[in-house]
Amino acid sequence: MTDILYIQQVKRLCDDFFSTNGYYPGMFVQTFGCQMNDRESEKLQGLLLTMGYKEACNEEEADLVIYNTCCVRENAEKRVYGKLGYLKSCKTKQPNKVIVLCGCMPQREEVLTEINRSYRHVDIVFGTFNKHHFPRLLFEHLTQHKRVIEVLESHIEDEEYSINEFDSQTTRFSPHKAGVTVMHGCDNYCSYCIVPYVRGREKSRSPEEILMEINALVSDGVKEIMLLGQNVNSYGQGLHNPISFAELLTLISEVPGLRRIRFMTSHPKDLSIELIEAIKNCNKVCKHIHLPIQSGSNRILEAMNRGYTGKQYLELLERIRAAIPGIAITTDIIVGFPGEEETDFSDTLEIIQQANFTGAYTFMYSPRKGTPAADLMNEVPKEIIKERFNRLVEAINALQSTHNKKYLNSTVEIMVEDKSDKLKCFTGRTDDNVLVHFESEKDLTPGDLVHVKITGYKTFYMIGDYITTLNR
Ligand code: 5AD
Ligand code: SF4
Repeated sequence: MTDILYIQQVKRLCDDFFSTNGYYPGMFVQTFGCQMNDRESEKLQGLLLTMGYKEACNEEEADLVIYNTCCVRENAEKRVYGKLGYLKSCKTKQPNKVIVLCGCMPQREEVLTEINRSYRHVDIVFGTFNKHHFPRLLFEHLTQHKRVIEVLESHIEDEEYSINEFDSQTTRFSPHKAGVTVMHGCDNYCSYCIVPYVRGREKSRSPEEILMEINALVSDGVKEIMLLGQNVNSYGQGLHNPISFAELLTLISEVPGLRRIRFMTSHPKDLSIELIEAIKNCNKVCKHIHLPIQSGSNRILEAMNRGYTGKQYLELLERIRAAIPGIAITTDIIVGFPGEEETDFSDTLEIIQQANFTGAYTFMYSPRKGTPAADLMNEVPKEIIKERFNRLVEAINALQSTHNKKYLNSTVEIMVEDKSDKLKCFTGRTDDNVLVHFESEKDLTPGDLVHVKITGYKTFYMIGDYITTLNR
């Protein structure tokens, strides 16, 4: 049976459920981790809606619960185990509740062993390479009343559909903005990172397919897209007709009706002059680059297998800023990589000042079994990691505040994201991704571009007064 037939079969089962119970079964999808998982959850939820499920408010109420998981750090996994533990008691009261675990966690052998040993109430398990087969797995579980576990080691090469996104059924968590995956996997093998092992080798989607998806999203009201990939700078290698990420950006910026284009993540070692020029020349591409540095110490960068030194990173920033003055640069930083000494950490504190980041995601190092770094013996004690982490966060917050302060009394272009029901209060984002709260008597809609005068700022947001709407 093809996937479409499984969708129809599950739909029939949902109709039967309705005949018996007087309501359609409820589903609850929770996502852990990155924006790529968010996008894949939208698609899983879309499939479920097509199959007849309705949205439930929470796990307790739902007849089917999906946890779309992340394994980049141990904390994310612990949260999922905690939730699965809780669902065990729910399942005693509701034995027909279907519990689904998918995404990155099941790609790890230890997780599968743990699920088999201690979480036997989980009904369906699948990984990152076969999410589009969810309707079949669900059908098998619902009709055969058995656990269904299907985790693949890589994409099935002759099954183009498996990497081409399961697009036909999708839902969106936000009306005006959407993520679009441009490539899967990662070939960089940073020594601490589990991603290449659970998401496989880099594989780019064709520009035609990406443009088709974006055109469909724009016709559906989307004004802003985030192009997603673990390392978008190496986009296009290996395609029948190879094209660069810069060329892709230029093509996408020609889509009528699209207002803003963002992308993440860029790897410093692959960011080309051509890409800098494309960001500069395409009006719709937001003047913001997320460029993970990870550490300021050359010794640690080498042990991380990042492929650049602190000096090279700073030189790259200089080139970017010379071409695009005022561009915002954000980053990722890991604290407490094995062997990190106080002097290495000082290098990190120093480089973030020199780089003048406008924001950063900061992480405490989490050993991931199977990565080279997990075998290193010189672990940094937890208390030291925490103490350095706090100092880093303080320094980053100060930089972020300083960045926001620059906007005080100026008029900025904001894309409206949300409004509160009663207070005429809106939130939106600047081109460089700073959150802005403002009031307006006008009935604004998510996706509108407006001018707002900034009247105040805090570390994580700014406050302003609405001036005018730039479009309708
Ligand atoms: N421990 C802590 N942080 C990690 N990251 C990736 N792997 C680990 C790990 N083992 C961080 C990196 C990466 C971001 C997505 O997650 O900073 O850029
Ligand atoms: Fe992980 Fe490095 Fe690939 Fe990013 S570039 S996903 S940190 S291996």
